[in-house]
Amino acid sequence: MDLTHVEDDLELDQTLFTEEQIVSRLKEMAADIERDYEGKDILLVGVLKGAVMVMADLARSLDRHVEMDWMAVSSYGSGTKSSGVVRILKDLDTDLQGRHVLIVEDIIDTGLTLSWLITNLRSRGPASVEIATLLRKPEAQQMEVEVKYVGFDIPNAFVVGYGLDYNEQYRNLRCIGTLSPHVYS
Ligand code: IMP
Repeated sequence: MDLTHVEDDLELDQTLFTEEQIVSRLKEMAADIERDYEGKDILLVGVLKGAVMVMADLARSLDRHVEMDWMAVSSYGSGTKSSGVVRILKDLDTDLQGRHVLIVEDIIDTGLTLSWLITNLRSRGPASVEIATLLRKPEAQQMEVEVKYVGFDIPNAFVVGYGLDYNEQYRNLRCIGTLSPHVYS
């Protein structure tokens, strides 16, 4: 689905990222990752469901073998506010002992989910754990964990598309944009 199908639902402002912009930024991030992980095996850990599109395009931009695994955690309810509660809905299939883990995220908002996830994954004995996220909101910068790869820093707005949802909708939108308040108010 492209912008023409949901134009009235989105704010056409600076948070609008086209599919081309997203994919080209992910290619740059992939080049950084290849350089940093030379000679090391990478396990990409995607956080469901939002990171599906980021994982698909980032993984395919890497010109080398990688393994992929998935975790599902709940951090948001059906609205636009963080619940602050994180629960594992689906755990990894892979043993992390000695592995170089790169968490692939769609967006970091409060950073609550990631802080929790990192502590959880680090307790499983990996060689390293780093984070790659397509989007990052301002609050996340107060997080104690360093986010190694960031696609775009965006203002504090609720965005949808390219895997990101509002009430399970808009995930299949090719671009990313801020949801107009009239959609949820
Ligand atoms: P955090 O714990 O506040 O950093 O939120 C992490 C998760 O909340 C993300 O992985 C998303 O699934 C969801 N989320 C945060 N901000 C947005 C947004 O603007 N649009 C859609 N989902 C969001």
